[in-house]
Amino acid sequence: MLNGANTILTLYIDNCLMDRTTSGIIDWNAFLSTIDKTTDVVSNCLLRDDSDTDDSLPNYWFDLIDAGYNWSNVKWTDYNLDETHEVVKKFSKLVNSKFIRCFVSKVDPGIGVPMHQDHGDEEYTSKFDRNKMSRYTCFIKEPSFGQTFIVDKHCFYNEEKHKIVKWNNFQNFHATFNVGYESHYIFHFLGEDYSI
Ligand SMILES: [Fe+2]
Repeated sequence: MLNGANTILTLYIDNCLMDRTTSGIIDWNAFLSTIDKTTDVVSNCLLRDDSDTDDSLPNYWFDLIDAGYNWSNVKWTDYNLDETHEVVKKFSKLVNSKFIRCFVSKVDPGIGVPMHQDHGDEEYTSKFDRNKMSRYTCFIKEPSFGQTFIVDKHCFYNEEKHKIVKWNNFQNFHATFNVGYESHYIFHFLGEDYSI
């Protein structure tokens, strides 16, 4: 499936989490220099608003509400990328997975995103094979102090630029916090694997 000197496959955790690399394949610096020009930008905040109803909230959300977060420090920005983007096409080919959705998340210093699942991804199971749906994360900047990313039982910190990890379930709980001094950018790709 993968070949060439740029392919690194070094680590398996939980039988399917894996390390690969975009080194020599994707110029993330060039990509990031243009990302703020992306028009499809969604800024999110987990602050509960009047449009939420008790029925629309997952059960764990009530634990978060009761946990005492400072909600003004809970927010992030997503830069959505479609399948025509060169970076997305390269990444899809590298991990051998058909594009479903893709975005870059930005979390600024002093900000935390509490544990959650991306519930919206469930809607794709009507169009794609749930058993082949995979979530990939790529670390696209050099490590910087205080920038963490948690998926299920794993905390990713000081990860090598270009490293890709495959989640063991696309609906894993995940979270992030940034107690450093620079914004933390992470690339996310949800795909339907061509072969698993
Ligand atoms: Fe998320």
